Amino acid sequence: MTVISVIAGDGIGREVVPEAIETLDALGLGLRYDVLDHVNAQSYLRTGAALSDSDLDRVRASDATLLGAVGDPRVTSPDYARGVLLRLRFELDLYVNHRAVTLLHDRLSPLRDEKRRGIDCVIVRENTEGLYAGIGGALRGSSELETALDVEVNTHAGVSRVIAYAFSIARTGVCLVDKSNAVPHGGRLWQRCWAEQCAQWPGIHATHQYVDTAAMRLVADPTAFDVIVANNSHGDILSDLAAQLGGGLGTAASANLNARTGFGLYEPVHGSAPDIAGTGSANPVGAVLSAALMIEHLGHPQEALAVRSAVARSIADRRCTPDLGGTLTTRQAGAAIRAALD
Ligand code: NAI
Ligand code: MG
Repeated sequence: MTVISVIAGDGIGREVVPEAIETLDALGLGLRYDVLDHVNAQSYLRTGAALSDSDLDRVRASDATLLGAVGDPRVTSPDYARGVLLRLRFELDLYVNHRAVTLLHDRLSPLRDEKRRGIDCVIVRENTEGLYAGIGGALRGSSELETALDVEVNTHAGVSRVIAYAFSIARTGVCLVDKSNAVPHGGRLWQRCWAEQCAQWPGIHATHQYVDTAAMRLVADPTAFDVIVANNSHGDILSDLAAQLGGGLGTAASANLNARTGFGLYEPVHGSAPDIAGTGSANPVGAVLSAALMIEHLGHPQEALAVRSAVARSIADRRCTPDLGGTLTTRQAGAAIRAALD
C-alpha cells in the first residue's frame, strides 16, 4: 500500500491540494493519505510549533509527500516557513529540487517569436546548500558598521550529487549555470565537480553559462535548453522565470528529491498567494502536475502522462482559471481536468 503524507499548509495550498488528491483518486491507484492538517500558520500562531518530530516521523513513514504552500502574512518570523519546508528539505536530505517546465499551450507563452516558444526543460536546483543553508550572522554596532553575512555553502559531495542527478535525467544536454567569474571559491568547486561529472557522462552534451547570461538566453530562446543545473538561489530565480515561459507560476510543478533513497516531496512552485486566497480563483494545475510527477516517480508513468494530457486538453479548451485565460473556479478547473482524463 502506497501512503502519501499530505501537508496542504496555508492560503491557496489548502485550495489546490484537494484538487490534486481528487485527480489522483480518479486514477484508481489505491493510494492512502496521511493528512497532516495541523501543519499550518494558524496552528503555528496558536502553539508556536511548526513541524514537530512526530510530524516528521509520519512523513518519514510515508512513501512520498504532497505539499501545498507554506506562508501567511500574519506570521512575520521566518522560523515558521523554515521550520516546515526547510526542515523537511534538510532532515530528509532532499538535495534535488526538480522543476520541470513545459509550455502547456501556445497562447500562454509571453514570447513573440513563435518558433522559440516551446520550452520543455527541467531546472535542477541544488536544494540543501548554497545561500539558503542559514549560516551567517549579523554584526551590529554603530549603524554605519552594521554588517550582515549569509554564507554560501558548497560541498564537493553536495555539488557532485546534484550535478550527477542532472545528467541522469538529461535527454540531450545539461547546462551548468553559475557565477564562477564573480564568486570564485564556490565557483571553482562547482567547476571542478562539473568537470568530474562531465567525464562520467560522455554521451550527454555539456555546456556552461553564467547565470546572468542564462537568464537572458532563457527568455531569448528557451528551446535551447534541456536540463539546467544550478545552485540553490540561482535555481530558485531561474525556475520562476522559466515557469512564466511555460504558462505562469500557477502551472509550475516541482519535486524535492533524495535521488538515493527515492523519497520525494512534491509541491507546486507557487506560494500561498494570500492576495487571492479564499476567492476560488487559484489555479490547481501546479498542484495537479506536482501530483503527476509524484506518481511518475512512484512507478506509474502512464497515469502521470494521462494527467498531463488532461491538463493540456482542459487548458486548450479554456476550461481553466482566469490566470490562464479561462473563467472557471479552482473547483471547476479541477473537475475539468478530471473530466478530460481518458
Ligand atoms: P506566491 O507564489 O504565493 O504569489 C505570487 C503571485 O502569483 C501572486 O500574485 C499570486 O496571486 C499569484 N499566484 C501564485 N500561485 C497562483 C495560482 N495557483 N493561481 C493563480 N495565481 C497564483 O508568492 P508570494 O506572494 O511571494 O508569497 C506568498 C506567501 O507564500 C509568502 O508567505 C511566501 O513566503 C510563501 N511561499 C511559499 C512557498 C512554498 O511553500 N514552497 C513558495 C513561495 C512562496
Ligand atoms: Mg521561489
